[in-house]
Amino acid sequence: MENNQRAQWGSNFGFLMAAVGSAVGLGNIWGFPYKLGANGGFAFLLIYLILVVVVGLATMLGELAIGRITGKSAVFAYRDLAKKWTFLGYAGVAAGFFILAFYSVIGGIVIRYMVSFLLEMFKSGAGFLGMGSGEYFGYFISNAGGSIFFHALFMAITILIVMGGVSGGIEKFCKFAMPALVVILLIVIIRSITLPGAGAGLAYIFKPNLEPLSTLSGFFSVLRTAAGQMFFSLSLGMGCMITYGSYLSKKENLMTNSIFICIADSTVALLAAIAIMPAVFAFGLEPGGGPGLLFVTLHEVFTSGMGGFVGSLFGFLFYLLVFFAAVTSSISLLEVCASFFIDKQQLEGKKADRKVISGIIGAIIFVVGIPVAMDGLGGGSIIKETFWFNKWGFIDFYDLISEGILMPLGAALMSVLIGWKLKTKIISDEVAASGKGIKLKAYKFWDICFRFVVPIGMLLVLWGQFLDFGLI
Ligand code: PFF
Repeated sequence: MENNQRAQWGSNFGFLMAAVGSAVGLGNIWGFPYKLGANGGFAFLLIYLILVVVVGLATMLGELAIGRITGKSAVFAYRDLAKKWTFLGYAGVAAGFFILAFYSVIGGIVIRYMVSFLLEMFKSGAGFLGMGSGEYFGYFISNAGGSIFFHALFMAITILIVMGGVSGGIEKFCKFAMPALVVILLIVIIRSITLPGAGAGLAYIFKPNLEPLSTLSGFFSVLRTAAGQMFFSLSLGMGCMITYGSYLSKKENLMTNSIFICIADSTVALLAAIAIMPAVFAFGLEPGGGPGLLFVTLHEVFTSGMGGFVGSLFGFLFYLLVFFAAVTSSISLLEVCASFFIDKQQLEGKKADRKVISGIIGAIIFVVGIPVAMDGLGGGSIIKETFWFNKWGFIDFYDLISEGILMPLGAALMSVLIGWKLKTKIISDEVAASGKGIKLKAYKFWDICFRFVVPIGMLLVLWGQFLDFGLI
């Protein structure tokens, strides 16, 4: 069926679960909680939410609309709308390709931790070999064979789901995984905030701390951190939402869907912070971000902090949650790449075999991810010392290409295309296709967003990324 007819979501709920699934990912869990605490708490939250409304929401609406107007994935959608801008679609596919290459390595480690906690529930030492949290993480990432094996496993799961198709694979999985994720998150929150000493963690994330905002440079630093986190978290700037929007029926309301996805992603990010930080503080640990938080600090929370069977049970539940978050995002990344080739074949009048295409692309991305797995997540290894870009290690290098350059540029240029060349009316007409149009005042708001706010916001992100990667 899907081979010669373009795929569609089975229901609007299914689409929403897939889109929110894409948005809610590792970014929400290892990025948001820490950045919230370190950059001003409540003040950061406020700035973050404003950015979601004036930059994120418009970009989300723009991407979904472009997908639905054309009924095609990123490259062909741009080609249909403005031939000269086709490169934006390619940039998106390339970004998805490189993000998935390292995302899958991390997803593999998540599987390893999930399985280890499951084993620990039955026999102490069976999962983490009696090692402490820092020691085990160091041991695991420096063991290339193990990292590659779990990277392969994670990629295989991603490929299998994408092979199942849009409604039969992606939608089906997300309709189950996303509600399950929310339930587990709520269970973990209840445990976390009822721990003695949890209040310090809540204070860390919520107490307004105006210190980081007290200087102009401090304010800009918080602004670009929030903007960078926001657009990666919402899966924007690489055609993912264009692709998902292209499978959406004309009768669904783009505006309410965009609002739902943005609210759901921000809510889960906040809930992740409420689940994680109180537990970290309750056991006197230092908050941090990235893999250190996910695999060392939180491991410590479950083993030394909670301890015993209960600790292992919560450890298992937590990494299961992270696994769901990571897979529902990784399938969207693979779909962006696979849908390009599927559409290409169909447009050339050939029969597109989704299974073969997703299998081959997934396998190539797996191979490209191998250096990340061999590289100890950039922690210093033979590869890092041998290659010309030894400054970063592979994970940072891939991250620089995708999140650092292609994605913010992609979002900025998409917005310029909509606001200046195609004109915002193209979006409002598409929103009106479901029967409910945009009022004049709202139209003016979106027009200003597309023409000015989003491009400026994204240039801010780009500037921030260049600073973070030490390029300027
Ligand atoms: N939004 C995902 C996260 O927060 O981890 C990452 C991501 C997925 C970015 C899919 C872009 C994308 F197309």
